[in-house]
Amino acid sequence: TPKLISDKNEMRNWSRSMRAQGKLIGFVPTMGFLHAGHLSLVSQARSLCDVVAVSIYVNPGQFAPSEDLSTYPSDFQGDLRKLAALPGGVDVVFHPHNLYDYGHNSGDVAGEGGGPAASCVDGDGSGHETWVRVEKLEVGLCGKSRPIFFRGVATIVTKLFNIVEPDVAVFGKKDYQQLRVIQRMVRDLDFSIKVIGAEITRESDGLAMSSRNVHLSPEEREKALSINKSLLKAKSAAEDGEVRCEKLSNLVIQCIAEAGGRIDYAEIVDQNNLEKVEQIKGPVVFCIAAWFGKVRLIDNMEINLS
Ligand code: PAJ
Repeated sequence: TPKLISDKNEMRNWSRSMRAQGKLIGFVPTMGFLHAGHLSLVSQARSLCDVVAVSIYVNPGQFAPSEDLSTYPSDFQGDLRKLAALPGGVDVVFHPHNLYDYGHNSGDVAGEGGGPAASCVDGDGSGHETWVRVEKLEVGLCGKSRPIFFRGVATIVTKLFNIVEPDVAVFGKKDYQQLRVIQRMVRDLDFSIKVIGAEITRESDGLAMSSRNVHLSPEEREKALSINKSLLKAKSAAEDGEVRCEKLSNLVIQCIAEAGGRIDYAEIVDQNNLEKVEQIKGPVVFCIAAWFGKVRLIDNMEINLS
């Protein structure tokens, strides 16, 4: 079973002692309720590194007040069991209580006090006022409907990187924009960390695995299959020569709408800068967010025409 750490100083001390022993440290940040997608990231970290730390922390800083922070699913004991059952297991699970609680006005002193975790979002007393923003990459796609999401992600990942001090960090392509935001941040701020992007893990029927899938009713889950199905259709249409993005988007939008999903966005963008493209010329990714009932799902597919 993995070592459990909830104190950030203890976490950093563990990492530093590992590094002093010459060990390469892998890190997978998560918000828990782990599924096979998360576990595939952990396995990659395991195969690339000598020791692996996984963080389980539902970050209030990336949820707007209207969003699903309070209903975000959790199963800490189940998560620990799944991690322990992996070949090679994991070495540490970092499970902090509140990473925005700085005790009395200050940096390093651990202490009581601090408001509810969510207070960091609107700066009403937790004292946290520093945010990392990746100015262009954060605004499109999910950034349109979730304007504070990526500053919340970039900030918590910065904090986690500074606490865990890993050599390698693995992120999933399921959250494609998040991966690009983190990669840009790591480059721009000179983090000495190698960021790996891992492929999307899907259920056998094609639905991208997500902690939020548990909130889907059986009917909604069935309808949600339209996302992956339409992405596959669009990809093969592109491979058959349809390179006009509007045509491809319409195909997908129609298919999802017919199934009863409410589309937030369906856009074909450049794989690197995530800017919208009109015609497929180089590597693109088709990104989708859509609502099924009260559940917002995201998915995407890379299209690499050769
Ligand atoms: P969470 O949604 O728990 O995801 C943790 C990691 O698992 C992310 O890198 C995500 O892309 C990856 N992941 C989720 N579902 C996946 C799937 N089906 N296939 C492959 N990878 C998958 O993303 C977050 O948490 C948070 O924003 C976090 C980075 C931890 C910051 O709070």
